[in-house]
Amino acid sequence: MKKKIVLAYSGGLDTSVLVRILGEDYGYDVIACHIDVGEARDPELIAARAKRAGAHAVEVISAQEEYVTDFCFPALQANALYEGVYPLSAALSRPLIAKHLVKMAKKHGATAVAHGATGKGNDQVRFDLAVKGIAPELAIVAPQREKNITRDAAMEYAAKHGIEVPTTKKSPFSVDENVWGRSIEGGILEDPNAEPPEEAFAWTKSLKDAPNEPIYVTVGFQGGTPVSLDGVAMPPLTLVRKIGALAGEHGVGRIDLMENRVVGIKTRETYECPAAIALITAHKDLERFCTLGMSHRVKTGLDTKYAELIYEGFWFSPLRESLQAFNDVHDKNTTGEVRLRLFKGSCVAVGRTSPFGVYNHNMSTYGVQDKFDHRAAEGFIQLLGMQLAEHSRIHAGGATIHTEAHAAKVSK
Ligand code: ARG
Repeated sequence: MKKKIVLAYSGGLDTSVLVRILGEDYGYDVIACHIDVGEARDPELIAARAKRAGAHAVEVISAQEEYVTDFCFPALQANALYEGVYPLSAALSRPLIAKHLVKMAKKHGATAVAHGATGKGNDQVRFDLAVKGIAPELAIVAPQREKNITRDAAMEYAAKHGIEVPTTKKSPFSVDENVWGRSIEGGILEDPNAEPPEEAFAWTKSLKDAPNEPIYVTVGFQGGTPVSLDGVAMPPLTLVRKIGALAGEHGVGRIDLMENRVVGIKTRETYECPAAIALITAHKDLERFCTLGMSHRVKTGLDTKYAELIYEGFWFSPLRESLQAFNDVHDKNTTGEVRLRLFKGSCVAVGRTSPFGVYNHNMSTYGVQDKFDHRAAEGFIQLLGMQLAEHSRIHAGGATIHTEAHAAKVSK
């Protein structure tokens, strides 16, 4: 009996060729597994194509809801933006895909999993680490990485072996998309100084074409998770799609990033992530409203780490899970509504309400309702500045000396 392998099958040229290579060169029975995270492809067509390419079995898994609920929303709780700007749309889908590959390997009694990622990208790291994190006993096969199969070589192989090449309309870019965002690479985008051309984008309007009037949308959160838009409760996937469409219409979510890959390469990456950017803007705002400054400041540092863990492939790791536990507690009271204004590429929180807003108008107002004890500040500052005043006294006005010494130095 042949050994079995589960391949992450996208339905494109590269993974179709892999079905055959894993069968013929590696001697496996190939279970082609397509995990739908919202790539807008026809699952039935994909299954048929995998069969024709020589798959022993095909599994098509619809995972969009799971993706949003178990991956995107936890990342949202962490306001996860890699290097401060990229909402990790491609990165987040890899551990989900890996999880299903492992599940299918167990179901079919496979001893290995395979993927079509290359040796110079982040995705190989994410697939491999995710599999190691949950099923270290499985072998991982990545023919692309082992053999460095170029696009042309794949085309040639397909022609020679009668593997159909998907007739998608020829794009000058390499695109990866799911409900959390779309990444666009290659072609002219490899020139860091070339502005991404309009044809690179599919989900967001240009500033020129975006409506000339702003719109407002209110996002409702329950414990840090979005639950409604404009007061209408809706399931996670619907909500993400709806706000994505609205934000995209107003040109929100375009990102141009000189990015640092895990494998040391610096690349120019272009993204459009309208839903993610809008929701992160809203979540960040409500969190600021509902939590104490001291916790917020700690979380900001942890959020950066959380984003890095996603980017670097450590989704299934004790550290990511511990940070998640922190976020779950921290977000317990992130409940309420944030009003966003979407206009010509910008997304700004302009209002918020919450039963748990740590805000007391009587304390902060300069108006007649002021109940703040102004005299209390005197004692507070007295203690706060005690050491500083003492230091200054000993040094006969320390700060002045420094200033004068500096002035003397520069005037020389
Ligand atoms: N640079 C992005 C990331 O690492 C995009 C990766 C896109 N993947 C792809 N196979 N095209 O998350």
